[in-house]
Amino acid sequence: MRTESAPRERASRGAASAPATVRITLSEFPENGRKVLWLGDVPVEVRRGPDGIEARSLLCTHFGCPVKWDEANQRYACPCHNGMFDAAGEVIGGPPLKPLRRVPVVRSGAEVLVGAEVSPR
Ligand code: FES
Repeated sequence: MRTESAPRERASRGAASAPATVRITLSEFPENGRKVLWLGDVPVEVRRGPDGIEARSLLCTHFGCPVKWDEANQRYACPCHNGMFDAAGEVIGGPPLKPLRRVPVVRSGAEVLVGAEVSPR
């Protein structure tokens, strides 16, 4: 019988082997666009908004399930226990106590370096 490990467990294993950074170019996503990339097993969303570029882990801070951006309601939703986070990643509902984790971003010309020290929680 095949067993599926919990998201938190998978994320923890992936974080150990996650690359420290991912380099992307600005031409890969439009202004006001969102791009999901992976640092090992950790999904990270990079958002290019009017205030610049920001990135956050898409792993819920409750038990590590992947959250999804809900465009219609302008929030992140976690399918596991109905955790909700606003557009800035702050908790607005459900059991999570901590905001979605910010991921360091460094822009250098037309390139963006995403990552370093990414962990699932
Ligand atoms: S893992 Fe997201 S609300 Fe529990």
